[in-house]
Order: sequence, then structure tokens, then C-alpha cells
Amino acid sequence: MALAVGGATVVASVIGAKAWTLVGLPSIAGLPDAGALVTVGSPVLRALTTAAGVATLALLVLALSVDPARKGGTLSRLGRRDATLAARAAGAWTVLAVLQAMWLFADVLAMPVPQAWSPSMVAAFWWEVPQIRALILVALLAAVAAAIASVSTRVVGVGVATALSGIAIVVPTVSGHASGTSAHALLLASGTAHALAASVWVAIVAALFLVAARGQPELAPVVSRLARVAVVAAIALAISGIGNTVAQLNTWSELVSTTYGRIVLIKAAALVLAALAGYIAQRRLLPAQPPTTGLRRRYATVAAVEGLALLVAFGAGSALATSAPPRIPIDLPTLAETLAGFAFPAPPTFTNVVLSLRLDPLFLIAGLAAGVLYVAAVIRLRRRGDAWPWGRTISWLLGIGAFLWATNAGIAAYANIAAGLHMGQHMALTMLIPILLVMGAPATLALRALRPRSGPGWGPREWLVYLLHCPAAVILTNPLVVMVLYFAGLYGLYLSGLFGTLMGSHVGHVAMQTHFVLSGYLFYWILIGIDPRPRLLPYWQRFMLLIISSALHGFFAVIIMMSEAPSPWSGSRRSARPGSPTYSRTPFSADRPPGPSASSPC
Ligand code: HEM
Repeated sequence: MALAVGGATVVASVIGAKAWTLVGLPSIAGLPDAGALVTVGSPVLRALTTAAGVATLALLVLALSVDPARKGGTLSRLGRRDATLAARAAGAWTVLAVLQAMWLFADVLAMPVPQAWSPSMVAAFWWEVPQIRALILVALLAAVAAAIASVSTRVVGVGVATALSGIAIVVPTVSGHASGTSAHALLLASGTAHALAASVWVAIVAALFLVAARGQPELAPVVSRLARVAVVAAIALAISGIGNTVAQLNTWSELVSTTYGRIVLIKAAALVLAALAGYIAQRRLLPAQPPTTGLRRRYATVAAVEGLALLVAFGAGSALATSAPPRIPIDLPTLAETLAGFAFPAPPTFTNVVLSLRLDPLFLIAGLAAGVLYVAAVIRLRRRGDAWPWGRTISWLLGIGAFLWATNAGIAAYANIAAGLHMGQHMALTMLIPILLVMGAPATLALRALRPRSGPGWGPREWLVYLLHCPAAVILTNPLVVMVLYFAGLYGLYLSGLFGTLMGSHVGHVAMQTHFVLSGYLFYWILIGIDPRPRLLPYWQRFMLLIISSALHGFFAVIIMMSEAPSPWSGSRRSARPGSPTYSRTPFSADRPPGPSASSPC
């Protein structure tokens, strides 16, 4: 019953919002029309697919942190039941993602579904549409999450299924508006945070509604534990919603002058209503003792109001994500600037490269969060009367400062268009910054600052202990694996066409920079790290690792210096020449007018 009401609310709100965005839109003669079934079906399926993901998440949250787990993390009977239900929800999610891909393909081709899905059309085009590739990935991740949840007997399996579900929930946003707008750096950060925060909040409300409806005894402690996460999700949702709005509107007045803007205002009102209901449920109803049936019923009613308000906003959001936003894309003069996503800055000077700013919201928020969490943990230790070496704190904060500089100062812009400055940023991200961060010993600090979970199940501390010694950590800290990952970022990236592909989109660029930092962190963690790890390498092995990596860096430098083209980016000299397909896909080919092979990635 609750599921049916929830589903109907999402569908009604998507259709309502989508129909509203279509009102008054001029029909352009000669423009093909796929018909209402596709135009409205596409956003409805988008919302239902994400909603199935949220239902999966809600049931996994129950199995993971509500249903009592036995010692060692074995699931209880209740946990097993919810993991099985989650597997079914993930199965529905897989099917819905495939259906959404079918409808989206018809929408992109502006053809009715049966026509669009003719073998010739599919063979010719379906893989060319980034959103379709993203949905196939969502279907795959959901299917794997379903398989894992269906066989899991321990919280570890449920944890893996939850992580996969979280990734699958944000994938459509990454390939949606965020990849096609001139404000893609902002929309990538705010869009992914928004989709995740919305899903987490709705999943928690759904899980608590289920706990109340089932009469499970743990209502109050569970609500207080999950409510903290819901509050963080609500704040992240509001902030990222404003980020989305800034990225998609030209002026604030469009909030009232455009349908898109008015729908955003309705969503903001829904958020306020949901937050109010959440506050009443958590602060007014739950503290009342004893927890009578009447109290549970009132709690379930208020939680239902909170949930329905969120589902209305959810549906409206999915309609917005499939509608043309008011923002007029900036037309950049050259292909290279379009590839980079911004107009060429002035020639590089010390001030422009080192002292100017080019903010990247994703890395800015990640860096600030890592700094704030570290300082908060140190303060908790000190308040408890425990010491923490100043050297480690200074090293961590220097590392974070350098990371924020390398990803948000002028160098971040020049690294898109000048080979030398790009390598400078690369070396900072993969050598200097990881050394400083590793010396900060963040895992040791977290293990000391986090409190062990009192009740059943695993809390953050139990998960950290597990992750530092789990089979994946054993493989990832194997020196051979570390070397391959570390040097894949050099030889694998620059001596193949991969660099051109990654530089051709903002998402690719973010993935590349993330790999630089993480592979560097892994390398220096096993070489000079303080934090616990599955196996401590003997000093002679560490010395060998250092010698071999220095030699490999040296060889790479010689290859770069010997190459004729600014970049030996694609292995064979012929294809790295100006005018070759690989060359023209990098902004470094700034001086080349757009060639037939060049396609605008952003
Ligand atoms: C301050 C309140 C909010 C603001 C300003 C806001 C703003 C936006 C904007 C501008 C978009 C469209 C982004 C695009 O064009 O791709 C969006 C999408 C979305 N919003 Fe909100 N929103 C708010 C609250 C909420 C709430 C309360 C929910 C539900 C829990 C929600 C769920 C969503 C979803 C699911 C999407 C579509 C994500 C996707 O499929 O890519 N939003 N929001």
C-alpha cells in the first residue's frame, strides 16, 4: 500500500511538472515528434528508476544498520529478510533502467519506441548516446547489487551492495545536464550531491516508516541514529539544489519568470515542509514515552507527510532533469575552448598561474571536508585528553592546502591547455600532495576518534577496521599492484589514446585527477605510511620500490622530452601529429581549427 501511494505520488508529480514545462512551448514545423508516450514516458521512467534505487537503498540501510546483526557481522533473520527484499527492489531497478534506456533512445531520436528500436537504428546510434551508456551501467550495477544482496549472510556483502547502489544512483546525473552545460563543473558537483542527498533522505524516511509500521522495538534509538544522517542529507540537498539552480538559471528573476524556476520554488517549499515534519517526528513525537501504538501511528503519519513531500519534489526534479533549462549555453570561439569548457585565459604569468582562482566545486568541497573532518577529530581527541602529534596535523593541512591550490588556482585552468603546466599539476597531485597526506595518518586518527558501536551491527569505526584489513586492501597494497596503478597514470595514460579521451570531458578530467591523487596516496602509504595496513613491507623492499619507481619516472621523462609533438599522447608518433584524431581531441591542439573527427565532449 505505502509503495503504491509512493509510486503514484512520484508519477503524478513528474507528469504534472513535465506537462507544465511543455505548456506554451512553440511546436516547430518539420521537427520530428516522438509522441506523448515518449516525451512524458521518459521522465516518468527516469523518476521510477531512481525511486527503485531509493527503495533498494532503504532496505539495505535497514539490513545494514537497523536489523540487529550478530557478533562478527552475521546478518540476523530480519537482516536476511530485508537483504532479500532489497535484492528484489534492485532487480526491479535493473529492469526499469533498461526500459528507461529504451525510452530515452526514442526520445533522443524523436521517434516512437518501436521505430527507434529497429535493429538498424540500434546498431547505428544507441552506443553514441552517453546517457544510454550511463543507464546500461546503472542496470549492470543494480543487477550486481541484487545478486550480492540476495546471497549475503554478512553485513560486508550488504555494505558492498549499498556502495554499488550509491554509485548507480548518481551515474545518470553525471551523464545528464552536467555533461552538456557550460557550467558543467558546478552542475557535476551539485547534481551528483543533489541526487545522492535526495536519495539518502528519502531512503531513511522510508526505512524509518517501515520500522514504525512493523512495530520493531528499536524505533527511538534507530531514529536518533539515522536522523543525524537525514539532517546532513537535507542540508546537502538544499545547498546542492541552490547549486543546480545557479548552474541552470541566467538570473534569479527566472525563479519566478520561468516554469523551470517556479518548479524549483515548489521543490524548495516541499523541502521546507519535509524538514518541518521530520523535526516534529524526531523532536516532538519520539521523546514521548511510553512508545504506545497511538504514538507509533502518529509518528508513521508525520513520517508519511515528510516522505510524500519529498516524493513530490523527487518527481518534479526528474522532470527538470529532462527539460531544457533557461540557461543559455555560452558559445566558445574555438573547439579547444569548447573542449576545455572555458575561454582561454591570458598568457601564463606567476600571478595568473599561482595566485588567480578557477574554482572546481567538487574538489573544493572534497578538500574542505577532508580538512574540517581531520581538525574535528583532533579536537575530539584533545577534549578527551588524548595527545595527537602537531607534525601530523600540520602535514595533513599542508597537503589539503596544496590539493586545494592545485585544483582551484589558476594552474587548474592552464593544466587544461598547456602541456607543461598540466604536468606540473600532475606531479603535484601524484607526488607532493600524497606524501603530505600520508604523513597525516588519517586512518589512525579516525580509529582513535571514532567511538565503537554500542549496539548490534557495524558503525563507522567497525567498517574502517574491516576495510583496512579486508581482502581488497590486501590486493591493493601489494607492491606490484601499487606500481601498476601508479605508473598506469603515466605510461598508460600518456602513451595511449586514453589521455585524449579523458581530456575530452569534464567527468573524464575529474576521473584522471582523482586517479593521480589516489594512486599516489597508495604508493606513499606502503612506502612511508604510518597508518595500519594489511602487510608492512620490509625496508629493503621499500628501497627497491623507490629505486624502480625513480627509474620508471626517468624513462618516462626521456620519452616526453624526445617526442616531437607537445604530447606523445597516443603511442605512435604518426597519430600524435597535429591533425591526427587523437591530437585534435585534446585542448593542447588549441591552434587547430575544428577537424571532422573533433566532437564537442562537454
Ligand atoms: C532547496 C530545494 C531544492 C532546489 C533549489 C532544487 C533544485 C533542483 C534543480 C535545479 C534540479 C534540476 C537539475 C538539472 O537540470 O539537471 C533538481 C533536480 C532534482 N532534484 Fe532538486 N531541488 C531542491 C529540493 C529537492 C528535494 C527536496 C528533492 C527530493 C528529495 C529533490 C530531488 C531532485 C531530483 C531527484 C532531481 C533530478 C536529479 C536527476 O535525475 O538528475 N530536490 N533539483
